[in-house]
Amino acid sequence: MTRFDFDTAFRERAVFLAPMEDVTDAVFRRLCRARGADLCVTEFVNVEGLLRGCKGAAHKIDLAPDDQPTAIQIYGADADRLAEAAEVAERAAPAWIDVNCGCWVPKIARRGAGAGWLREPDAMVEMAAMVVKRVSMPVTVKTRIGWSFDDELPIVELAKRLEAVGVRALTLHCRTAQMGHSGKADWSWAKRAKDAVSIPVIVNGDVNGADEAETALATTGCNGVMVGRRAIEHPWVFREIRARLDRGETHAPPTREERFALCREHLTACLEERGEHRAVRAMRRYYPGYLHGLPGAGIMRRTLNTTDEAARVFALFEQWQTRGVEARDAAE
Ligand SMILES: Cc1cc2nc3c(=O)[nH]c(=O)nc-3n(C[C@H](O)[C@H](O)[C@H](O)COP(=O)(O)O)c2cc1C
Repeated sequence: MTRFDFDTAFRERAVFLAPMEDVTDAVFRRLCRARGADLCVTEFVNVEGLLRGCKGAAHKIDLAPDDQPTAIQIYGADADRLAEAAEVAERAAPAWIDVNCGCWVPKIARRGAGAGWLREPDAMVEMAAMVVKRVSMPVTVKTRIGWSFDDELPIVELAKRLEAVGVRALTLHCRTAQMGHSGKADWSWAKRAKDAVSIPVIVNGDVNGADEAETALATTGCNGVMVGRRAIEHPWVFREIRARLDRGETHAPPTREERFALCREHLTACLEERGEHRAVRAMRRYYPGYLHGLPGAGIMRRTLNTTDEAARVFALFEQWQTRGVEARDAAE
């Protein structure tokens, strides 16, 4: 395996798979990497769980040798605990450590973790400085443009101050915390932040395909793009973006065979990871996207939503791929 060079990776129009809780586990990272994702970030890991040695947190930071380059993302509301947890994360040998300062979910942000840090920019910078000092590997921050449009947005000043304390790159989800996932991401803030600093800036929010990736990079001057929700429905988005950025080409959409192959591959890996009961249910969030556009997709989706046995799901994939969907499938 070639050694990971942070500066090179972050300066070369990289395409990142976004950290997404209960989505971007090792299985999903592998699927997306095989389809062109250059760099991945784990789901966020709670620092208290990590420091207490909780099974769930330990599992999240346990990176397989081929799961590289992957960063471990940590979140918490206390700077000391974040710095301590960063040390624990470093021992798991990720490619770098990312600190979540962007999660808007009220139960997290209201406690001061995630996007809660945006309400206290001084404390956020101090915290980042402590984390940077505590580990020897690169530390990055993923954040939003500010808490709300009611206040002056802090992101440009914050970017400069985070750079000054040694944060090596910034990922910017171009919404405020109050927006959650609503409204449109405003990439012009990524340009403003990028223009103010020398460290790499990764633009995130509504980068849903090759056109958007190209436009986002061209209009912001950012070093890379990060894709979240679109990957859940269409993990081929990474190869489509890479084809455009590397060769100016439009990649062909996935074939019917590729769509069924992904359903099988993902379910197989998910079964190993989660066991039958949880895997069969967890997969239901992916099928609408994976089967999108195929004749009978609605019937397939409804059938899969009520089928609890993995063997039956595999049999249905086989039947649908070879013979197509008949209306009676829905009733079976
Ligand atoms: C289901 C889900 C879980 C998420 N979990 C995380 C997380 O653990 N850490 C994080 O930094 N952002 C998380 N996010 C935010 C995404 O990383 C990303 O910033 C956001 O979805 C905007 O990008 P997109 O428009 O490409 O989806 C999550 C988003 C979704 C939809």
